[in-house]
Amino acid sequence: MCGIVGYIGNEDTKEILLKGLEKLEYRGYDSAGIAIMNDDGVHVFKEKGRIATLRENVDEKVPATTGIGHTRWATHGAPSKTNAHPHQSASSRFTLVHNGVIENFTQVRKEFLKDVELVSETDTEIIVQMIEHFVKEGLEVEAAFRETLSLLKGSYALALLDNENPEVIYVGKNKSPLLVGLGNGFNVVASDSMAMLQKTDQFVELMDEEIVLVSKENVTIKNLDGEVKERAPFTAELDASDIEKGTYPHYMLKEIDEQPIVIRNIINQYQDKNDQIKLDDDIRKAMKKTDRIYIVACGTSYHAGLVGKELIEKVAEVPVEVHIASEFSYNMPMLSEKPLFIFISQSGETADSRAVLVQVKKLGHKALTITNVPGSTLSREADYTMLLHAGPEIAVASTKAYTAQIAVLSILAADTAKAKGIDMSFDLIKELSVVSNAIEALCDQKEEFEAIAREYLSVTRNCFFIGRGMDYHVVQEGALKLKEISYIQAEGFAGGELKHGTIALIEEGTPVIALATQEHVNLSIRGNVKEVAARGAYTCTVSMKSLADEEDRVIIPDVHAYLTPLVSVIPMQLISYYAALHRDCDVDKPRNLAKSVTVE
Ligand code: F6R
Repeated sequence: MCGIVGYIGNEDTKEILLKGLEKLEYRGYDSAGIAIMNDDGVHVFKEKGRIATLRENVDEKVPATTGIGHTRWATHGAPSKTNAHPHQSASSRFTLVHNGVIENFTQVRKEFLKDVELVSETDTEIIVQMIEHFVKEGLEVEAAFRETLSLLKGSYALALLDNENPEVIYVGKNKSPLLVGLGNGFNVVASDSMAMLQKTDQFVELMDEEIVLVSKENVTIKNLDGEVKERAPFTAELDASDIEKGTYPHYMLKEIDEQPIVIRNIINQYQDKNDQIKLDDDIRKAMKKTDRIYIVACGTSYHAGLVGKELIEKVAEVPVEVHIASEFSYNMPMLSEKPLFIFISQSGETADSRAVLVQVKKLGHKALTITNVPGSTLSREADYTMLLHAGPEIAVASTKAYTAQIAVLSILAADTAKAKGIDMSFDLIKELSVVSNAIEALCDQKEEFEAIAREYLSVTRNCFFIGRGMDYHVVQEGALKLKEISYIQAEGFAGGELKHGTIALIEEGTPVIALATQEHVNLSIRGNVKEVAARGAYTCTVSMKSLADEEDRVIIPDVHAYLTPLVSVIPMQLISYYAALHRDCDVDKPRNLAKSVTVE
């Protein structure tokens, strides 16, 4: 993962780099550093921990108008000041920041750097040492940079400073995301346009195995053979104010509250003047043509995919398999004759999903990406894209992207049903409006969820979530939310499965949160609640109004049975949020995680 930034121009670069890194902190926050260059050479500041710690330790008095920066999610080497980027070559001539993983770093080290003493445990350091090695052998810096990159296996987004040439930042990209931003008398580099939107909204996309020479006035893109590539910039559409927290204490709470608006946005984006679903014709054709859909995703997006399967199978009558991307890559199932792949990814950058996309494209199959980020790698490399229109999701724990993914999948299912002439018994657009109101009503009941979190989760070590049918998928997401931000060990189970082993873990006071929104399994899930209660569990049932029992703790408004996940997940999100708060956890930046997982 990690995030990188760079600036070359006339303004003092320190604040530009630090602000950019603050916007990229979602990509990792184990350590951070900047390198700035002036007539005295390169000055490196780096610290373990957050950008705030780095900011306190940057010497304000050092002037510089060129620099690079990095925020790290540790892969090779523990989070420490020594392993923090930027890294320097033995002579300190070259300074480098890197996002990605170099898979063959042991081999290249053995081959080229036998005599070089490495300072850190990172794979990154070998890159900067190799560049110096080739320069010492007589290559020009640019040639040494290209030669080094051509020897590396793995993923990288890099920015390099040469203290003998303050006129240029060398940039390279393979698999990891990287953009170059264009300004008037300055240029910037960033892992994500969000980081540099304060400076420019004009960005140039880089392709794999490309390098860029970035100076104040020019940006020259080349491939690893040194051939120049021309590329027009695009306008990044994000409004810089979208990425501020405003009066909210945490991004997560803001993003939970945004969900009714997101659903309305999605309705607007996918509806024509006659209130009919509006969808790209090619997507419609691909959906009609396929004999089996393969949904590929990770984490929360995978959980949205599980709901998507039910929607597409029930509404559009197309068989669907849902796969965890990191498993699919190494264990591809037997494919049908006319498969269609759907990649679900908030960031559009998840390396595990991308690895599968590359494989299926090689096999000649069609792919649709459902993502929140236009122009992201998964969007660019797939045949078709459906956007979530959810606005930037900054909190590491995904909330509004999950509901947006399900809403978009429901639109895809309904459109396919119509294209296939299947008579749907409900008006999806109308039902999504009902959903939006129901989410709003739940977001207005925060005190209730805070009280549940305090009562059930303040001191517990673990928590179980149970559900059946659609609810089973939602409790899996509920458990993931709780564990990732509160560090409570939580699992989501199919209600009927507990008795086959897991019920052994239930003891006096174990919290069990049950979901009951599906009529056909209402009696069975209530039976499961009784079974755990009889063994001492402290139960909390969340049910839908028309199915509610007197003792239920949370009642959610009635919505169409297929769309309940959009609403029933809200109590899960809010209970998890308050549990994390009560336990003093860093809600927006949970330990060991990063928002955009760009390593496999
Ligand atoms: C959990 C969470 C992760 C992501 C997963 C996939 O709250 O956010 O599980 O869902 O890392 O990320 P995307 O959707 O960006 O591919």
